[in-house]
Amino acid sequence: MRVIETISEFREAYESVVKPLGLVPTMGFLHEGHMSLVKRARDENATVAVSIFVNPTQFAADEDFSTYPRNMDADLDLLRSAGVDLVFAPKPSEIYPPGFETQVDVGDIGSKLEGEHRPGHFVGVATVVCKLLTIVRPNKVYFGQKDAQQCLVIKRLNADLNLGAELVVCPTVREPDGLAMSSRNVNLSTDEREAASVLYRALCRAKSLRVEGVTYGEEIRQEMRRIIYEAQFASIDYVSLANSSSLEELQEVTGPALASLAVQIGNTRLIDNMMI
Ligand code: PAJ
Repeated sequence: MRVIETISEFREAYESVVKPLGLVPTMGFLHEGHMSLVKRARDENATVAVSIFVNPTQFAADEDFSTYPRNMDADLDLLRSAGVDLVFAPKPSEIYPPGFETQVDVGDIGSKLEGEHRPGHFVGVATVVCKLLTIVRPNKVYFGQKDAQQCLVIKRLNADLNLGAELVVCPTVREPDGLAMSSRNVNLSTDEREAASVLYRALCRAKSLRVEGVTYGEEIRQEMRRIIYEAQFASIDYVSLANSSSLEELQEVTGPALASLAVQIGNTRLIDNMMI
């Protein structure tokens, strides 16, 4: 496994790697969720590259960039044992050199939900993913359904700017109690960790209401809110039941819908979603 820190070195390595090349973009502190993407990429490509870059531009000034968990040595061990070929781990100055100005804004799809609550977040994500795709030039790129809106943003970006990678969306990997695996889970205290399963319980309830025949969107959202209000340490950022392509909130649920939520558990902000 080769660890590369500069764009020029990656470009040089690219010439001699066997294609197809698969890329898994990450911010590190890897867990089984990330590794499920890596496994899928390993199955589908001759060469697998993983990027590790905690992207400063997708964090607002009051967010957790400086305290975002990092452990490069443990990450490299995991990636080595998963048979990864190339790790791209640039320094911030490599991606954002002095004078860097360009921003990629995917418009409407990035302005709702997470975009509304984390202004500028998806501009940061779209800009860095655009750069990663043009640096690495993968045939396939892997993302997790855990960040459903991020997948829609990248789909728009990839189509609009003809970036040419095939997007593969992988299912959410969960802990036994349903909590979606996330690098941020490590910040939860024992009590908060127990309370955090409320996100999954609220999503399951939304799904079962739909299965029982409830079609009124607000009734389903209201029930998700009720479940979260009852949990300790939890406060709601948003609860949504939306069209799974446009993310428009639904009055009536007729076809496939995306239930999604962002909940603050103590000082840790968690997101999750489920197709219902
Ligand atoms: P990060 O949060 O490190 O996630 C990297 C990838 O792993 C994303 O595609 C995310 O959806 C996926 N992932 C995280 N937890 C998962 C889980 N429990 N199950 C399945 N997949 C999971 O998302 C980012 O980094 C960044 O925004 C990035 C795309 C790298 C741009 O900076």
